[in-house]
Amino acid sequence: MQLDQLDHDHLLARERELDAAYQRFRNAGLALDLTRGKPNPAQLALSDGLDTVEDGFVTADGTDTRNYGGIDGLPEARALGAALLGVRPEEVIAGGNSSLTLMYFYLLHAWLYGPAGPGTAWRDGGTVRFLCPVPGYDRHFTILEDLGIEMVTVPMRDDGPEMDEVEARVREDPSLRGIWCVPKYSNPGGQVYSDATVDRLGRLGTIASPHFRIMCDNAYAAHDLYDDAPRLANVMDACRRHGTEDSLVLFGSTSKITRAGAGIAFIAASATTLGQFRKRMQVFTIGPDKVNQLRHVRFLRDLEGIRAHMRNQAAILRPRFELVLQHLSTSLDGAGMGSWTSPRGGYFVSFDALPGLATDIVGLAADAGVKLTPAGATFPYRRDPNDANIRLAPTFPELAELDQAMQIFVVCVQLASLRRRLRR
Ligand SMILES: Cc1ncc(COP(=O)(O)O)c(C=O)c1O
Repeated sequence: MQLDQLDHDHLLARERELDAAYQRFRNAGLALDLTRGKPNPAQLALSDGLDTVEDGFVTADGTDTRNYGGIDGLPEARALGAALLGVRPEEVIAGGNSSLTLMYFYLLHAWLYGPAGPGTAWRDGGTVRFLCPVPGYDRHFTILEDLGIEMVTVPMRDDGPEMDEVEARVREDPSLRGIWCVPKYSNPGGQVYSDATVDRLGRLGTIASPHFRIMCDNAYAAHDLYDDAPRLANVMDACRRHGTEDSLVLFGSTSKITRAGAGIAFIAASATTLGQFRKRMQVFTIGPDKVNQLRHVRFLRDLEGIRAHMRNQAAILRPRFELVLQHLSTSLDGAGMGSWTSPRGGYFVSFDALPGLATDIVGLAADAGVKLTPAGATFPYRRDPNDANIRLAPTFPELAELDQAMQIFVVCVQLASLRRRLRR
């Protein structure tokens, strides 16, 4: 029943029913958690073979991976990263355990030294702003906040950031130095950028201020839940077509392929852009953990190997995502109490409550023993101007726990929505 169609008496009766259900959950003393965007133990176990990969420590070209050296990472690991991110192997550096660290170091490098070398340091050019599609990934925003870079939001659509607005802002504001993108299965909405969006991103460098950077975090490049997965156009090819390849910096990792925080991270860019960053890398490291890189390469082999591995993960994750979506549609379809995304991959579902209710819903859920990501977390400075967005993370809990958590979540959404209607 649509919220707007209920008269006052019906609203009151329904509120009492929902409150009774809510109190039952509250009294059950549950401790459930829908905040953790991390792999569950069954997914992780699929990579246990990493520890039994044999064949010693020496690579095909005679490199002893136990020793120092090789700032760019093993050639085999670079080739794997290149296949994952859709670039040439020489455009990739295979680094340590975290792509987020590479993103932070890249922006620190742009800020302190300049993305294109002497004379281009962002800190020397007055106010620096960055475009942030919202809702987005909180840790991207935290890096910018940490560096004192002002964040300018643009809305996410089903096919990527609202590109009319992105282009208009980039044209009129020379202090904009970059944009964050998660082009496949965005965090938190799970959207995949359309071909047209990717092409327009490729063109952005022709209208933006010099040394503008697209921080393209392809963390979920291989994280399809279904065999008929949506295809992401090649972002580097789009940049090459428009002659803007120096504006693109790609990131990825095997954190959610093998082991979270214990895989290989990649940074990829044109020879010019990567060359500038390599100058910093040569200062802060003697080289990555090549032993880990070698066993990953032997374990995953190539892109086909990654795809096969990810199909096994999808079998574990699909029921979790489908359970979440089933709860949402059974209880909220057509109710006028919010909307949500139905991702075909990635790690999250994004729920938009009625404006002004996200904080209430998160609070109600917490009192009933369900921890949700704090309202506002998906926005710069943790401020969602509509107080509407809630990020749901279905991957970690067991199905039974997820089922309970979602029963409580929808009751909280219904209760908050009805109570607001009654207050009017
Ligand atoms: C979009 C996105 N990028 C990066 C990361 C972290 O990657 P890494 O483990 O390689 O630092 C995450 C983790 O949740 C993520 O969602």
